[in-house]
Amino acid sequence: MRGGAFILGLGLPVLLSAQTFVGSAKCSGCHIEQSRRHAASLHSRALSRAENSRLPGLLDRPVAERGGVELAYSQTPEGWIVESSLGDDRQKAPLTWVFGAGMLAFTPVGERDGKYFEHRVTWYSALQRPGMTMGHPSAIPQSAAAALGQTQTAQTIFRCFNCHATNVKPGPDFGAMQPGVQCERCHGGGSDHVSAPGRANVRKNASVQACAECHRMPDQNAANKTSPEKADALSIRFAPVGLMASKCYQSSQALTCVTCHDPHGRPYPEKPDYEKKCQSCHAPASLVVSNCPRQNDTSCLTCHMVKATPLPGLTFTDHRIRVYREP
Ligand code: HEC
Ligand code: HEC
Ligand code: HEC
Ligand code: HEC
Ligand code: HEC
Ligand code: HEC
Ligand code: HEC
Repeated sequence: MRGGAFILGLGLPVLLSAQTFVGSAKCSGCHIEQSRRHAASLHSRALSRAENSRLPGLLDRPVAERGGVELAYSQTPEGWIVESSLGDDRQKAPLTWVFGAGMLAFTPVGERDGKYFEHRVTWYSALQRPGMTMGHPSAIPQSAAAALGQTQTAQTIFRCFNCHATNVKPGPDFGAMQPGVQCERCHGGGSDHVSAPGRANVRKNASVQACAECHRMPDQNAANKTSPEKADALSIRFAPVGLMASKCYQSSQALTCVTCHDPHGRPYPEKPDYEKKCQSCHAPASLVVSNCPRQNDTSCLTCHMVKATPLPGLTFTDHRIRVYREP
């Protein structure tokens, strides 16, 4: 029927994409355990409004930079404000949002002239002090405005919010946004499911690719497509890159992020028994035959999944499970 209306099929993706978001509070009455764990997770706190964040309390003194730049923070009736100064040049702007639950860091995002900027200063939890935001130019800023940070395009800032929040729309439009990675960011809008609960009308995707939408896939376009080595200092930040390069992933065809991590997080400092996960595939007897020199009391992770610190204050776990051989 040319020129007529499109007929919607009963395909699940069409139905799901038309669904409305109802908010995590609606899920908790029926899914008590997932909701309890998720509420304590870092996902649920990946973004906060400044007034709900610990950061203003931490940045309680001015930050002085080389070259005479100073950044001073204050709480005002208009919100949390940063004032930058370089000689007589002064600029003021509200810092509205705080990115990160503070596992590693907190980065403020502010607004100036109708645009969003990523602040030049980040709080590094391990160092217990502020430092320059990762990726910002280390050259001394030449104006008070430049000292505030990097102005982001609408597209880039939308991407930041889309990884750290739920139901943000391009623009960015925060009208219906819930800060943090909430239930419906992974499971899709829940209106149909809430009114007629069942398995068919809710998305559930436990693949590595689903987590990698935010945790990042290996760069398919990079000229060098070979596995990243530990020496590629920053690739360690992106767990899927390492994991997908491991033999465990490639040979088992069964290893995913949720083999080891509960997608609903864990109330800290509770730790899963990672060795048990390893031994679900590598039975202790097979390790004896393979010359793996483990002792009963040493963790598999000490030798096969080490930690590394590519930048001061930022420590990650190498997800490329392997035997580290000296070069
Ligand atoms: C009124 C109760 C109720 C509410 C509210 C509810 N659910 Fe469910 N949910 C269910 C039932 C019942 C099932 C099916 C369980 C089964 O068959 O094992 C289910 C299943 C699920 C599943 C598993 C699907 C699968 O394939 O295994 C997910 C994921 C889920 N719900 C997410 C949510 C989210 C997200 C929300 C909030 C937007 C929510 N639910 C709100 C009752 C509810
Ligand atoms: C919408 C984006 C998004 C998706 C999808 C996502 N994550 Fe995350 N994840 C984040 C962000 C953002 C953080 C950092 C949270 C923080 O500390 O502020 C994070 C942190 C984590 C952490 C470290 C914190 C902790 O609890 O130890 C783990 C583990 C994790 N994610 C696992 C997963 C797994 C497994 C999946 C797939 C089932 C997944 N993530 C999917 C955005 C996402
Ligand atoms: C593609 C998705 C994605 C985008 C875009 C993104 N992030 Fe993240 N962010 C993550 C994930 C996943 C983590 C957790 C793992 C890690 O540290 O990389 C994270 C971690 C962080 C952390 C540390 C959280 C903690 O608890 O220590 C901060 C701060 C942060 N992001 C800020 C930002 C800011 C600011 C932007 C935009 C300028 C941004 N992110 C854009 C996915 C994203
Ligand atoms: C980071 C993504 C993510 C978030 C956020 C998330 N889930 Fe899930 N959820 C998953 C994945 C992936 C699975 C499948 C796990 C598996 O197959 O082992 C799952 C499974 C479930 C199930 C099926 C039973 C189970 O535990 O495996 C329910 C019910 C559920 N989620 C509800 C929720 C609710 C309610 C929230 C919010 C409080 C929530 N989820 C938040 C990714 C997420
Ligand atoms: C889902 C199953 C699975 C899980 C879980 C798993 N592995 Fe593996 N792993 C494999 C398979 C399959 C291979 C490849 C064996 C082969 O090719 O002979 C492998 C290979 C390895 C290798 C040799 C790697 C190399 O490059 O030579 C090491 C070391 C290893 N695994 C350690 C671990 C540790 C430690 C854990 C837990 C942190 C773990 N594995 C979890 C399936 C798994
Ligand atoms: C003290 C360090 C150490 C610990 C702890 C350790 N490994 Fe190993 N593992 C090694 C080394 C070194 C090799 C390489 C042995 C060789 O090739 O001669 C190895 C080899 C392996 C292999 C590869 C076998 C093969 O056939 O290629 C697997 C799988 C493995 N270990 C799994 C584990 C698991 C699972 C644990 C925890 C239960 C563990 N390892 C604990 C050091 C360790
Ligand atoms: C074989 C087990 C295993 C698998 C599979 C796995 N992780 Fe991890 N992950 C770990 C361990 C162990 C840690 C360190 C936890 C700790 O120190 O408490 C960790 C830590 C993390 C962290 C915190 C930051 C860091 O690097 O220490 C993030 C984020 C994370 N994993 C994401 C993922 C994602 C996304 C996937 C899927 C691509 C994944 N993990 C698959 C074992 C695993």
